[in-house]
Amino acid sequence: MSEERSNILQVSDLHVKVKTAQGTLPLVHKVDFGLKPGRVLGLVGESGCGKSVTCQSILQLLDRKTTHVEGSIQLNGRELNGLKAEEMRRIRGKEIAIIMQNPMNAFSPVFTIGDQFVETIRTHTDFSKKQAFDLAVSSLQDVNLSDPADLMRRYPFQLSGGMLQRVMIAVSMCLRPSVLIADEPTTALDVANQMQVLRQLDRIRSEFGTAILLISHDLGVISEMADEVAVMQHGRIIEKADVFALFDNPQHAYTKLLLDARLSLPINQQTKEFILS
Ligand SMILES: Nc1ncnc2c1ncn2[C@@H]1O[C@H](COP(=O)(O)OP(=O)(O)OP(=O)(O)O)[C@@H](O)[C@H]1O
Ligand SMILES: [Mg+2]
Repeated sequence: MSEERSNILQVSDLHVKVKTAQGTLPLVHKVDFGLKPGRVLGLVGESGCGKSVTCQSILQLLDRKTTHVEGSIQLNGRELNGLKAEEMRRIRGKEIAIIMQNPMNAFSPVFTIGDQFVETIRTHTDFSKKQAFDLAVSSLQDVNLSDPADLMRRYPFQLSGGMLQRVMIAVSMCLRPSVLIADEPTTALDVANQMQVLRQLDRIRSEFGTAILLISHDLGVISEMADEVAVMQHGRIIEKADVFALFDNPQHAYTKLLLDARLSLPINQQTKEFILS
């Protein structure tokens, strides 16, 4: 089987352009990468280099009026680029899910967490309301949220950013998607909750074979979680390598700079054992 065919997600020659008053500007340029089942690809690069735009273009979440996505995004052999919004809605959440960098964007302010969680589950399954509610509650417990039944009755604005982040992580993981795009999933969390979330990501990867694209500014998290790492600069992937090769022997000057800039790896052996236990 060719390299590309064994990938559950294959992104090829991806370009994203945005229309502005000054003309069309490129945000993402000629990006190629593949994700394999049960493997983690880390994506790193300075703020504004195009990581979130890349994620959103894969999920077809960018505004079609102002942005233009070119290239191929194949999920399990099926082309996503250009799919109708309705078809994309059926795939999103079930086959490919995203943990967004800003959790506020992921929820409607006018419905409770429970209504939104149950609705998402029922859109993709034939679960009864009770079954969906129970799955939601157990998924909230998985991300260390206490009193999930109470949480289900609350509105998004009644939760802290870190709690909402964990709710979104629970929603995105509960249907065991084949591909999970995690855009800074732990940035808003304290250390204990970061560990819990990384542990859950590792669990769905190993138990369900979910392929993960993990974006993080924390190179400690990347070094522990990722199998391969892609480095992005100015909308392009400038280097991609196995995690050990990249950390031990970076090729590109920018990658060297990025690695030199890290003060220390915050994850030590003890926390690694905790994540993977
Ligand atoms: N909808 C949009 N319309 C126009 N420009 C955008 C849009 N979204 C993002 N941008 C621009 O695209 C570039 C890449 O943004 P992006 O959010 O992908 O960066 P990032 O790598 O995720 O950064 P960070 O690490 O801070 O999250 C930035 O210059 C940003 O201002
Ligand atoms: Mg971002």
